[in-house]
Amino acid sequence: MDRRQFLQTGAASGMLLLKPLTAFGYAANSAVRHGLLGCGNRGTSVAESFSKKTSAQVVALADLFPDKLELGRKHFDELNASLGRPAIDSKLQFHGPHAFEQLAASKEIDLIQISTPPFFHVEHLETAVASGKHVYCEKPVGIDIRQAKHALEIGKRIQSSQSVDVGFQCRSAPPLAAVAERIHAGALGKIAAVAANYNAPASTEKKPVGTSPDEYRLRNWLWDRALSGDILVEQNIHIIDLCNWLLGDHPLKATATGGRNILTHFGDCWDNYQVDFTYPNDVHLSFSSTQFGDDGTFDAGLKFYGANGMATVPYSGPVQITGTQAWTWQDPDAPAPGAGSGMGRFAANGAFSDNLAFADRDKERTFVDSITSGSSHNQIAAGVETALSCMLGRMAGLTRREVSWEDLLANGETYQLGLRLEQFS
Ligand SMILES: NC(=O)c1ccc[n+]([C@@H]2O[C@H](COP(=O)([O-])OP(=O)(O)OC[C@H]3O[C@@H](n4cnc5c(N)ncnc54)[C@H](O)[C@@H]3O)[C@@H](O)[C@H]2O)c1
Repeated sequence: MDRRQFLQTGAASGMLLLKPLTAFGYAANSAVRHGLLGCGNRGTSVAESFSKKTSAQVVALADLFPDKLELGRKHFDELNASLGRPAIDSKLQFHGPHAFEQLAASKEIDLIQISTPPFFHVEHLETAVASGKHVYCEKPVGIDIRQAKHALEIGKRIQSSQSVDVGFQCRSAPPLAAVAERIHAGALGKIAAVAANYNAPASTEKKPVGTSPDEYRLRNWLWDRALSGDILVEQNIHIIDLCNWLLGDHPLKATATGGRNILTHFGDCWDNYQVDFTYPNDVHLSFSSTQFGDDGTFDAGLKFYGANGMATVPYSGPVQITGTQAWTWQDPDAPAPGAGSGMGRFAANGAFSDNLAFADRDKERTFVDSITSGSSHNQIAAGVETALSCMLGRMAGLTRREVSWEDLLANGETYQLGLRLEQFS
C-alpha cells in the first residue's frame, strides 16, 4: 500500500473532510453526549478535559473491571456536579468483556471515546463505528499488521455524517502547529536529515491484591508487547507522527536495534530502540528511545536539518528555526516582560517549557467542532499510517534486518491476546 492509496481513503494527515450537514443536527451550543470506554488514567483525563473545554458532557462509562468503572463513576459524578450537570445514570454504566458493545448499543450517547489498551482499539473501533456514533480513538490504531489492515477497512465504512479522530494531540499544540506551518512553507529549504528522541520513565507496577496472572497482565498492559505494541508503537508514536506530518510522508524502510537492557520485571517490551528510518528523497530520521526508571526524567523532540536552516521541535523548551528564515515561537498570550510569573515566555526566558500545554484542549475543541458543525473528520488512515511506521521500526529491531514498507505489509508480525476476556464477565 503506498501513500496514494492512503490518500484515496480521504483521510490524509491533517486533511478534514467537509460535510454539508451534521449527523445529529446539533444546535451550536447543545451538549454532545459522551461515553467513555476505558476509565483509566488517560481516558479519565481526556474525558474530563472534553467536559471542561468543550460542549461534550460525560453521560456513560464502560470498563472491563468493575473497580475501574466505579472509580470513573465517582470521578465523573463529582465533576458533573461541579459543572451543574447530572450524575451518570446507573443504566449507562457497563462493565465486563461486553461493556464496549453495550456502550455502543446505547441510544443515549453521541460520542464514544476509546481509551482502552492498544490491543483492543481496532475491535472497539469497529463496534463504535458500526453504531454510527462519533469516535475519539486513542493511538495507536492497531498494534500489528492484521489490525492495521482491518482498521483501514473500518475507516472506509465511516459514514459521511460521522466524525472519527485519533488521539495524536501533539499536532494541535500551538507551538508545534506554528513551526509545522513554516516547515511546510519551505523555511528550511531541502531537508537533509532528522534526529529525534523519546526518553521517558517507566510506569509503576499495578499490583492489586489477589489478582490472577491474566488480570495482572491486563492491568500492566504497558509492559506487554501484544497488549501495547511495545514502546515504539505505544509511546514513541507521537514523535514518529510528528515526523511523518512534517515531512509529509511515511518512511520507506528502516534498520534498527535495541533491547531490554535495564528492565527486569514482567513483560516483553524493550526498554530502548535505535532506529534509522529512510524517508523519500533519502532523508534519514535517526531515532532513539528509552523507557525505564522512575526519576521522572522526560525528554522528547525532533530536529530537522535543512539547506537553509534547522528547526528545533521539543516537547519542552524553545521551538525555533535558525538560518535564513530564523523564527522563535512566542506565545501570543504571554504576559509583558516583568508582568508576573513569566508563564508563556519560555521561548525568550525558558520559564514556561511545556509546548504541549494546550494540545489536548485544542485537539478536543477541533474534534467537537467537527461534530457540531457537520465538518466531519476521518483520521483512521492517517492514524494507521503512523502506527505502521512504528511497526516498521519495531520489525526491523526484532528481526535485526532492514525492513521495507512493502515487506512490512506483506510479512509484518501479528500478535494474539493469549487470554480469554470472558473470565472477567
Ligand atoms: N495520546 C496520549 O498522549 C496518550 C497518553 C497516555 C495514554 N494514551 C493511550 O490511552 C490508552 C489508555 O491508556 P491509560 O494510560 O489510560 O491506561 P490505563 O490502564 O490507565 O486505562 C485503561 C483502562 O481500560 C480498561 N480496559 C482494559 N481492557 C479493556 C477492555 N477489553 N474493555 C474495556 N475496558 C478495558 C482498564 O480496566 C483501564 O481502566 C492507551 O491506548 C494509551 O496508549 C494516550
